[in-house]
Amino acid sequence: MVKEKTLEKLKERIEPETWTDGIELPLELMGAIHEDPAILADIAYRSIISAKQFDREQVVQLCRLAAKYEASQNAGQFPLTGKILISAFYEPSTRTRLSFESVWHRLGGDIISITDPSTTGIAKGESYKDVAEMMNHYGDIVVLRDSNESAIYEMMESLRIPIVNAGNGIDEHPTQALADIYTIFKWRPDLIAGDVKPEDRVTIGVVGVPGRMRTVRSLLTLLSLFSDAIKEVIVVSSVSDVFSEGQLEHLQENGLNVRESRQLNPVLPEMDVVYINAIAWVGDSYETLGEEYHLSKKSKLKDNAIILHPLARGDELAEELDDTPHNWYFAQARGAVYMRMALLSTIMRF
Ligand code: CP
Repeated sequence: MVKEKTLEKLKERIEPETWTDGIELPLELMGAIHEDPAILADIAYRSIISAKQFDREQVVQLCRLAAKYEASQNAGQFPLTGKILISAFYEPSTRTRLSFESVWHRLGGDIISITDPSTTGIAKGESYKDVAEMMNHYGDIVVLRDSNESAIYEMMESLRIPIVNAGNGIDEHPTQALADIYTIFKWRPDLIAGDVKPEDRVTIGVVGVPGRMRTVRSLLTLLSLFSDAIKEVIVVSSVSDVFSEGQLEHLQENGLNVRESRQLNPVLPEMDVVYINAIAWVGDSYETLGEEYHLSKKSKLKDNAIILHPLARGDELAEELDDTPHNWYFAQARGAVYMRMALLSTIMRF
């Protein structure tokens, strides 16, 4: 039965957003970056597996291109007409699959997709290598999500078209990290410039396990490219041994100051950015961090702190925060569309 509240809502006319809504921030970011498309030439027709593939200047230029797309809504450009994306999502996804597919459509391309490996030869024991050999003939690029960390590497053995990692087990999620850092730079365009004064540097809290969460691993890698703008990264987790072998050393060698904390609440008031992700995929299932890692209106956040979350959300992020200025997680998901637009158009050489 339709509820009274729903009937009331149905009486309201839906006012669509205009394309100019919210373009101030990407415009500001564009203004902070000198455009140099030549820097992105090296990404053309390459596979993207890891955040480690990017250097600082490439990330800066991808942010500029994403901002350009976001500010213009890509009005009237269809550079991928006639190109086919193979969208292979062997593990659940809301944002990543829909945003990649949305981007491809918006750029004029066509899509063929797999959302369930049991409908492919993999269910009959076909190897990833053989599946990839077939994909060479059916499309121009593959976007793959798989809870099997090694699937993407096996596919690369026979692929002759680019593949983009949309999340491989607990390993990496490089396009999510690009979207995350794009959000941070839209919030504070001054951080991208390279001459950030010590007093303007930010403290970034990362609630999660860097060695077991792909979003966190990839984000920390990209943050380490901008360590001059970051006072400190505080990694908050209930478990010990949060880093995988060599991970912390790599971040520190790149100049990132990293501190660990077992508790969230005592360090929360220090954070300018709170990145929370409570899910770690383990095979076809996932594990969460624990009840003590929870953000709500009662949390002692700095007044101007922003919250980022790759989503899907669980109990760790109260819905009551959605209507507060701390909510940058929806902007983060929205911006991912434009960052993926920038990346895909760069890979496809447009
Ligand atoms: N952020 C992210 O990877 O979300 P999905 O699992 O919905 O794709």
